[in-house]
Amino acid sequence: MQNKQGETDKSHYPKHIAIIMDGNGRWAQQRHLPRVMGHPAGVKAVKRVVKFCAEQDIQVLTLFAFSSENWRRPKEEVSKLMGLFMGTMQKEVDRLDKNNIRLRFIGERADFSEKIQQKMVESEQQTEKNTGLTLVIAANYGGHRDLTLAMRSLAQQVKDGAIMPEEIDETMIASALSIPDLPDPDLFIRTGGEKRISNFLLWQLAYTEFHFTNKLWPDFDAQTMQDAIGDFLTRERRFGRTSEQVQSMTN
Ligand code: IPE
Ligand code: IPE
Ligand code: MG
Repeated sequence: MQNKQGETDKSHYPKHIAIIMDGNGRWAQQRHLPRVMGHPAGVKAVKRVVKFCAEQDIQVLTLFAFSSENWRRPKEEVSKLMGLFMGTMQKEVDRLDKNNIRLRFIGERADFSEKIQQKMVESEQQTEKNTGLTLVIAANYGGHRDLTLAMRSLAQQVKDGAIMPEEIDETMIASALSIPDLPDPDLFIRTGGEKRISNFLLWQLAYTEFHFTNKLWPDFDAQTMQDAIGDFLTRERRFGRTSEQVQSMTN
């Protein structure tokens, strides 16, 4: 869609895009490489997508980098992923900072090494005043765990007498989850062909538009992202209303 000045009209673009970056292992195996070789190739795709989102004025990009279930993988693969996570933070945070990108992490940090935890805190502090794209990395994240911790904190507040059980509402639950201050994802993308959520942002995806692609994550580029946004732009988001109601609201 172009406006009168011939520029692309981005007013309907998703504000928050959340991606399950899947298919690194299969990408490597297709090339007769060990599956762990797919992960560094996946980091290159991350850089392309971050650049795209920053240039297109997307507000928030959330990337599922490591799930709370991924610890079940072979030890060598987990250790390669941890090394890559640390190395990528060391190499890329200055560049993100220069590009006015704010970096945040969601997920349970205590299971990571001290060194990784420290680098996560430093990276967040270094970029916290940036006002461009917010890049959220979900690391050791699980939607069930996020909800469990939220329930625990609300239960504690009830126990302390700070709130009554009947006061608990959707807003309060949302506030107790990760990233309460960011809008819910408008567009969810999963690469690699699987059609499941794999314990990603369960609460926050309630009204998100889903886009699945068979493309493996290391092959993901600006064009694939543009295609996903194009698909998103064809959707009518009704939030429970009828199509006629939605149309009369937008006209
Ligand atoms: C996603 O790619 C990366 C992580 C889960 C860390 P996979 O490693 O799951 O790749 P496939 O699905 O096995 O091909
Ligand atoms: C989901 O991918 C998690 C990440 C991309 C980090 P998986 O490859 O772990 O998902 P499943 O096991 O196929 O559901
Ligand atoms: Mg996978």
